[in-house]
Amino acid sequence: MRQDVDVRIVGLTELSASVVRARLLDQHDRFWASDVRALHHPVWFHQFGGFGALAMSPDGEDVGYVLGAVTADRLAYLHLLAVRDDQRRTGLGRALCRWFDELALTTGARFVQAVTRPDNVPALAFHTALGASTHLSRDHSGPGADRVVLTRTLPGT
Ligand SMILES: CC(C)(COP(=O)(O)OP(=O)(O)OC[C@H]1O[C@@H](n2cnc3c(N)ncnc32)[C@H](O)[C@@H]1OP(=O)(O)O)[C@@H](O)C(=O)NCCC(=O)NCCS
Repeated sequence: MRQDVDVRIVGLTELSASVVRARLLDQHDRFWASDVRALHHPVWFHQFGGFGALAMSPDGEDVGYVLGAVTADRLAYLHLLAVRDDQRRTGLGRALCRWFDELALTTGARFVQAVTRPDNVPALAFHTALGASTHLSRDHSGPGADRVVLTRTLPGT
């Protein structure tokens, strides 16, 4: 099933950051298999909200989102990317990444990087399908908390 052509991707700056954050946390389990509520710190919606976007269905439901920021050394860090469980494998994750890539390119970013748990098979498959290389980073998030760092070159750089 391909993405509903009427799904709209809207920058968070056009929305109320607090309201969107509350809605996404309410629906957390439709987007995530493990508890990542703590990664939804308000700073990602308020201070870095310019790099974030929400995907909305024609009837106004939240069906996906991306949060991130571009660092001083031109790394586009993709902090969170999620598609609601009933909308996966329709190309929406790819569309959200494209939105983020295009914005990151306008700021001079050259690489996109995401970090995921080694057992997050869909995320690893998704990012490698988009061309990311993988690097296992031991103790990345603390003792025993290994992570996979996924890095890809931005198109056109
Ligand atoms: C990872 C995630 C965002 C992918 O979103 P999605 O909308 O399903 O991805 P897309 O439909 O755009 O998939 C693009 C390509 O990625 C690959 N892919 C995506 N999900 C996959 C899966 N579960 N298994 C294997 N390949 C997969 C495929 O090559 C796919 O292309 P295809 O459908 O034409 O074969 C989604 O699974 C998700 O929200 N997971 C829960 C949250 C999460 O773990 N986020 C990752 C944080 S780094």
